[in-house]
Amino acid sequence: MLAALRATLRGAGVDSPEADARLMLAAVLGCEAGGLILRAGEAVDPTATARLGAMTARRLQGEPVHRILGRRAFYAHDFAMSAETLEPRADTEALVELCRAPIEAVFAERGACLLADVGTGTGAIAVSLLALYPALRVVAVDLSPGALVTARGNAEAAGVAARFHAVASDYLSAVAAPLDLVVSNPPYIPSGDIAGLSREVRDFDPHLALDGGSDGLDAYRALADQALRVLRRPGHVVLEIGQGQASEVCEIFSRNGLVLAATKDDLAGITRALWFRREASSAEIHAPSGRPDADPAA
Ligand SMILES: C[S@@+](CC[C@H](N)C(=O)[O-])C[C@H]1O[C@@H](n2cnc3c(N)ncnc32)[C@H](O)[C@@H]1O
Repeated sequence: MLAALRATLRGAGVDSPEADARLMLAAVLGCEAGGLILRAGEAVDPTATARLGAMTARRLQGEPVHRILGRRAFYAHDFAMSAETLEPRADTEALVELCRAPIEAVFAERGACLLADVGTGTGAIAVSLLALYPALRVVAVDLSPGALVTARGNAEAAGVAARFHAVASDYLSAVAAPLDLVVSNPPYIPSGDIAGLSREVRDFDPHLALDGGSDGLDAYRALADQALRVLRRPGHVVLEIGQGQASEVCEIFSRNGLVLAATKDDLAGITRALWFRREASSAEIHAPSGRPDADPAA
């Protein structure tokens, strides 16, 4: 079955026929992809064969394999996806890594940390960080209520739901609490480029998760303005960016007094994440921002 499926996918020009065939066959047999060889002598029941046929038809229509399976591994967990969520990408693991230094700096300084993950999607960033830091609390924001339902389910599956607060909001507009850190992988594809994306992305990722406006930078402008209202001093903003957007995004944030602290490349060597710091200013420090247990939701 594996050989036949691989040949079908290869014949149809699928990019990764070997990996996709293993993932789909393992999913219908209910085992790990690495365990298939151990089951080579077993008969496969007709229901599994029919399910595999249906999955293969979807893959041949260009649907990405993880969307067919409904889940994808990201950082240290497996994330359920839905029609309203972007498929989490390995590039975004660089963003999670870049968040670690500012989060640890905040804990060292205040003993608590409240972070907003803006455009949480599956909750991949929020849940990964909550699992890394047992005292972290996260406000997970999305404009899509369906995405928030999926993200909450992923937080429950990872055992971090008690510290995960879902908020339906247009970026940070409904978030009132003083935040230590704003993290976001926002939509950043210029609207005019969407038609030219691969069909795996264009036809299956939600456009709300992709479309960054005419120059791809709308979300960064909104976040740079809104961060001034919700971010403590000192405070931090960590962002994923598209290829080649670093200097424009730095300019947008520096206009609002946020200073570039570090960058991180993805596995392809492309600058993928930026960390900005909002410096402390004694004139602007006020009592509520010193409370570690402020209510995170608006
Ligand atoms: C590129 S996806 C990132 C998803 C997830 N954080 C990840 O990295 O896999 C962008 C997300 O932003 C959300 N979004 C788009 N516009 C928004 C807005 N105005 N306010 C809040 N969220 C928005 C989308 O629904 C989507 O979930």
